[in-house]
Amino acid sequence: MTMREKLELLERRRAAAELGGGAERLKAQHAKGKLSARERLDVLLDEGSFTELDRFAVSRSDSDDGNGGPIYGDGVVTGHGRIDGRLVYVFSQDFTVFGGSLSETHAEKICKVMDLAARNGAPIIGLNDSGGARIQEGVVSLGGYADIFLRNTLFSGVIPQISAVLGPCAGGAVYSPAITDFIYMVRGTSYMFVTGPNVVKTVTHEDVTMEQLGGADTHASVSGVAHFVHDSELACLAAIRDLFRFVPSNNLGDPPRGRGSDPRDRRDETLLDVVPDHANKPYDMHEVIQRVVDDGEFYEVHRDYAQNILCGFAHLGGYSVGIVANQPAVLAGVLDISASLKGARFIRFCDAFNIPVVTFEDVPGFLPGVAQEHGGIIKHGAKLLYAYCEATVPKLTVITRKAYGGAYDVMSSKHIRGDYNVAWPTAEIAVMGPKGAVEILNRKEIAASSNPEGETERRMEEYRAKFAHPYIAAGRGFVDDIIDPRETRPRLIDALDTLRAKRDQNPPKKHGNLPL
Ligand code: HXC
Repeated sequence: MTMREKLELLERRRAAAELGGGAERLKAQHAKGKLSARERLDVLLDEGSFTELDRFAVSRSDSDDGNGGPIYGDGVVTGHGRIDGRLVYVFSQDFTVFGGSLSETHAEKICKVMDLAARNGAPIIGLNDSGGARIQEGVVSLGGYADIFLRNTLFSGVIPQISAVLGPCAGGAVYSPAITDFIYMVRGTSYMFVTGPNVVKTVTHEDVTMEQLGGADTHASVSGVAHFVHDSELACLAAIRDLFRFVPSNNLGDPPRGRGSDPRDRRDETLLDVVPDHANKPYDMHEVIQRVVDDGEFYEVHRDYAQNILCGFAHLGGYSVGIVANQPAVLAGVLDISASLKGARFIRFCDAFNIPVVTFEDVPGFLPGVAQEHGGIIKHGAKLLYAYCEATVPKLTVITRKAYGGAYDVMSSKHIRGDYNVAWPTAEIAVMGPKGAVEILNRKEIAASSNPEGETERRMEEYRAKFAHPYIAAGRGFVDDIIDPRETRPRLIDALDTLRAKRDQNPPKKHGNLPL
């Protein structure tokens, strides 16, 4: 064969590889409102930046395209590209080839880009669209999954690992994303379950639809498995690109600086009126966050799950920060099991990737009740406490109103290495709120009174005057200052300046024993 003939053959094979499972299956993929594996990469990555690896890899078992030829690529497109000029490694499963199922070769291709990502300190992004282990390959495909799970685990905290679930993902196809840092799903086309509705029906006799069992909204709001949910693949892939405005490429790198033009010294007059005069009236903590951060931009994580706590990324004076905030507008901002899990996982991500944590605190305490106690609020609440305690990134705290009980300790208090803790004049820092306190301390006096309600009110007023303010904490240095709410933004930015070179280390150990 001449060089020209060989080049022609190469071109034919490249074209065959690009076609994946064939034109008909590609049509079916589009008909479901889904992009192809390659189209997704085109949307995700900077234009023209994708370099493919292992395009000609073939399955070691069944690999027939129906015309006697091999199926090149074996159901996954892998390689590297750029997001805003930054290197990322990617794999994109091709549902048109054996339902994107994972064979030995398919797994090897994914492991190769994962290894390269870790070695070169770049994030790995997986676009998952897979029916799980390839049934025809048996234990070999199970082994392939285990190879991926091991890498997910070893590289956790080393490079950011991002999963988009863009099809019906079952079995092993959900456990790899589950170990990664963030899961994105799309309404109407993404599903995640260990076993689908048919198996559920057989085993538990429950009738459930795909959407109810493992649809995007189910995982975004009920199970908490998904961190982000979008209406289309285009919006989902754009959101993944956006995430990298806040997140560094690896655990040794600094997070990217924000490019906004919001003045560092901007005071915000409206912050005077956010916290209502009455201590039990709700307000939306989003308002505080948006008025403090650069250009009001808050990249919220887990928006639909455990809404009594808010987590997300923002820039403050250009610094990338992770924000954790109690949300008085939902369940009075109380800490329950779900909120503890949500906060703990987010804080651990920030700590692993050198992103300072800014906490806005207004919390009445942990949620009482049989369901919470039996559900393990003790061990789950302890996860949040543990995450804040072990974090060595800069930790800044603003107490806007309530900081009661154990929740005061937990929410990045000075005692657990908070670096800069301030309170608004509206802060109430005490063991418990006035009502609970007088019912315990003054039970006898109230019972003996001819006017129990009046007596309770009088005692509560006394308690408020004595305890429900920030001055005792400030007197001890447990908060560094009591500040004018309007100055919150410049104060936090100043503190971030001072903490740029912060060094803090935990004692040497193999690893801690997070209460699971
Ligand atoms: C081989 C598979 C496959 C698989 C799907 N296909 N799953 N081939 N191995 N696991 C093939 C189908 O034969 C079909 O081929 C094509 O992919 C599309 O599948 P459909 O069923 O037509 O598509 P759809 O109706 O959209 O349903 C998608 C699905 C369903 C929900 C994913 O295919 C399904 O339930 N698959 C099996 C899921 C599963 O149980 N996987 C194993 C899990 S165990 P043609 O030729 O018709 O196009 C596992 C172990 C890991 O993963 C353990 C980790 C802890």
